[in-house]
Amino acid sequence: MQPELGEPFAALPDTHVIPTFWPVPNTGVIGMNAFLIRAAEPVLVDTGTGFLGDRFLSALTSLIRPEDLRWIWLTHEDLDHSGSLRRLLEIAPQAQVLTTFMTVGRLMPEQPFPLDRVRLVNPGDTVNVGDRNLRAIRPPLFDSPATVGFLDDRTGALFSSDCFGAPLPSAELAAAHRADDVPPDVLAPHQVAWATVDSAWVTTADEAALGHALDQARRLQPTAVLSSHLPPIHHCLDRVVDTLRSTPSADPVPGMTQTELEALLAGFEPTPKESVDA
Ligand SMILES: [Fe+2]
Ligand SMILES: [Fe+2]
Repeated sequence: MQPELGEPFAALPDTHVIPTFWPVPNTGVIGMNAFLIRAAEPVLVDTGTGFLGDRFLSALTSLIRPEDLRWIWLTHEDLDHSGSLRRLLEIAPQAQVLTTFMTVGRLMPEQPFPLDRVRLVNPGDTVNVGDRNLRAIRPPLFDSPATVGFLDDRTGALFSSDCFGAPLPSAELAAAHRADDVPPDVLAPHQVAWATVDSAWVTTADEAALGHALDQARRLQPTAVLSSHLPPIHHCLDRVVDTLRSTPSADPVPGMTQTELEALLAGFEPTPKESVDA
C-alpha cells in the first residue's frame, strides 16, 4: 500500500476532516488528519504532509478557497503536520499561523520562518476567530514539547494533535469516520502501542500525574475528540482515557531491527522502473 489521500468528511457540521493514510510495517495503517473549521474566520488545523502535498491542497481547495483562510493552527512542527505549511503561506496570504514559539524555532533550521505571519499561542490562551473562541490546551500525550491543541467553544471539539492516536490493523478501520466503530479490543492495544512509541516518555511517567492530565482532558467534556492519528472520537472518550491510564506500566514496543527491515525490503515487489533497469 502507498500513502493515500482519503475523501474529506464532516466530523461535525462545520468541521471537516482531510485524512491521509500511511502504511505502518508489520502493523497496518495510520491516519494522518488535518481539519478545516468553517468558522467566521476559517481555520485550517495542521497542513498535511509534503509527500501528498498536491493532493492535500486540491482536497483543501475543494472545501474552501485558500485565499479565504484566516488562520492555520499548527499543533507542532512534525512533518506529518507541517508538510504543506510553506506552500499554504503563499496561496493563503490572509492566513496567520497560530502556534507556539517553540514550533517556530524548530521550523527555523529548515528555512527562516516569516515571523510576521505568526501569532503565538500557549496553553491557557484563547483566540477569537469571529464566531467562536479556541482555547489552547496541552494534550496529555505529545511527541514534541512544542505541541498545542485546543478546544473549540462553539462545537465543543477538542483537537488533540498526536494524543489518542493509533495505527489500526486494516485500511478499512483506519478510514472509519468514527473511532467508536473500531472494536474496543482492537483499538485499546493499538492506542497503548502508539502511546509508548510516539510519546516514549510515557513509560517512565508517574501514573497518577498522567491520570490527572487525562482527567483534565475528559473534564472539558468535548463533543468530539479530533486526533491527528485516529478517526474522530464521539462517544468512547471515557474508554479511551481509561486505556491510556495504563500506559506508564505498559511494555514499550521495541523498535524495528535491521534484520526486520531487510526482511521487509525482501518482500517488496520491484517497481516497474527497477524491473526495466534490471
Ligand atoms: Fe508528532
Ligand atoms: Fe503526528
